[in-house]
Amino acid sequence: MSIDEEQLHDLLYQALETELGGVQLYQAALACAINDDLRGEWEKYLEQTTHHVELVEQTLRAFGFDPANETPGRKVVRHTGEALVKAVALAQGDATPEQAQVVAAECVTLAETKDHLNWELIGEVVSRLTGEPAKVLRAAHKEVAEQEDEHLYHNTGWARELWIEGLGLRAVLPPPEEQKDVKTAIGAARAKQARQDMA
Ligand SMILES: [Fe+2]
Repeated sequence: MSIDEEQLHDLLYQALETELGGVQLYQAALACAINDDLRGEWEKYLEQTTHHVELVEQTLRAFGFDPANETPGRKVVRHTGEALVKAVALAQGDATPEQAQVVAAECVTLAETKDHLNWELIGEVVSRLTGEPAKVLRAAHKEVAEQEDEHLYHNTGWARELWIEGLGLRAVLPPPEEQKDVKTAIGAARAKQARQDMA
């Protein structure tokens, strides 16, 4: 089986657009953060996501592509990203501060689900590629993948626990995923299971 190069390039443009949307979304989410721990996490993730933009741009240039190019896949990702930023702004305008914070955590989790998928797919292809551009992509993946694990699993925990708190139930804050520094899907499942004993 050989890699469909056109599809791979589209994936890289989608990855760039996801990271660009992530920067916008973390900025919007930070305006809704009430919990100090959460604000600290989001500030860190904003910084990392800003760096991911640079890494994907470098990778595209290494493949000989202009990061400013438009692709059909990229356009769709931008549409979703803008919708998430709008959703956060809507909540900030209409909902209570607590509700707006939950909406922000949910929207960030949705965005990070796509981000995580992108880098998982990049991880699938990168070991099969050869040449100079592949080296740049491999280095980017090595740097980013573990951060994406943290972004997805920890934000998922925040969205769930803030919802639980909003429902008037006993929440685990910061979420067990953060307390246990979860970086794998199996670790996230274990952390979620352990919350019953922690709440
Ligand atoms: Fe990212």
